[in-house]
Amino acid sequence: MKMLKHEKVHANQSDQQQKHIAFFSTRPYERALYSELLETVSVDNDKPIKVVFFEHPLNASTAASCNGYSDVVVFVNDDINAATINALKRCGVKHIALRCAGFNNVDVKAAKKAGIKVSRVPAYSPETVAEHTLALILTLNRKTHKAYNRVREGNFDLGGLMGFTLHGKTVGVIGTGKIGQAVIRILLGFGCRVLCFDPQPDNDVTASGAHYVTLNELLEKSVIVTLHCPLNEKSHHIINAESIDKMPQGVMLINTSRGGLVDDNAIIKGLKSKKIGYLGLDVYERESELFFHDHSQEIIQDDIFQRLTTFPNVLITGHQGFFTLEALHEIAATTLNNIITGANTL
Ligand code: NAI
Repeated sequence: MKMLKHEKVHANQSDQQQKHIAFFSTRPYERALYSELLETVSVDNDKPIKVVFFEHPLNASTAASCNGYSDVVVFVNDDINAATINALKRCGVKHIALRCAGFNNVDVKAAKKAGIKVSRVPAYSPETVAEHTLALILTLNRKTHKAYNRVREGNFDLGGLMGFTLHGKTVGVIGTGKIGQAVIRILLGFGCRVLCFDPQPDNDVTASGAHYVTLNELLEKSVIVTLHCPLNEKSHHIINAESIDKMPQGVMLINTSRGGLVDDNAIIKGLKSKKIGYLGLDVYERESELFFHDHSQEIIQDDIFQRLTTFPNVLITGHQGFFTLEALHEIAATTLNNIITGANTL
């Protein structure tokens, strides 16, 4: 894997205990990246940082194996519920470092109660996820994934490949934080009219030319709806049968945030009735059972996921919105910095 030049992670460990870090749910590309970065961290010779990489996830059963680790580094689908946290506490773990932005998979209250610090990577190239969002929109619209296969088979028929011109279309952006704003900038560049909904509006968004409206107005007027808000109690299933009902016929729905934002049963009904004309997902509510692993030789048991893959107008990617070289470097550098300096705690 080609490595980018990166800033040295600054570590002054003189006033710290020795770090013994366990990484969970790791893939080979991450191990190479973190190993290289760790070599650049300057530490006291008598307190070298010890690291172990596990492929398996961290959850209530695997947490029991964390004896002797000061820090655990986890990803989007590790299950850090109260039981996991209690097991980590018994093992003496002091810090849970999320190597991602979203923290819906961590019981932060339980961690606070247990005296375990939780940190995350609040921002890393929001453009990375925004660009993937546009990749889904453009692929679904212009059907380049189907054209690729056709042309390779010598079939140059254009039937079924017709798209629509994005310029001038109204797009609804739900959540106008870092990623939502990056999406808005790109959409405005395409010449779209952008409607936004966020309980905490941002003046920069209005100044850029997008318009805040109520969620209902956004749903009613947008031919594309894209989700960029965190998953929490209020946003769980924000897209449901009722909200789909408000959308125009043939709407395009895009979710690169968290699977739990959409009610999959309502989505399937919407696809069957043709209310939803296009669906692009990079996340899925029960993705922890599937994503980041090769299940191609198995019988996938998740019938809802399997049903979704049968629609010709559905495009699913396996949580790869963050997956660029630049973003991975930023995530790794911030995660190590969080461990060493205690920054970005929740
Ligand atoms: P952010 O914290 O900068 O922005 C989130 C925005 O959503 C805030 O402005 C907040 O006020 C708003 N919001 C909160 N509740 C809302 C609601 N009920 N309705 C509408 N808006 C609401 O977060 P950022 O960095 O923009 O990330 C957004 C989400 O993207 C993350 O929470 C994460 O789930 C997801 N994500 C996905 C990745 C991928 O690889 N597919 C990678 C990184 C993040």
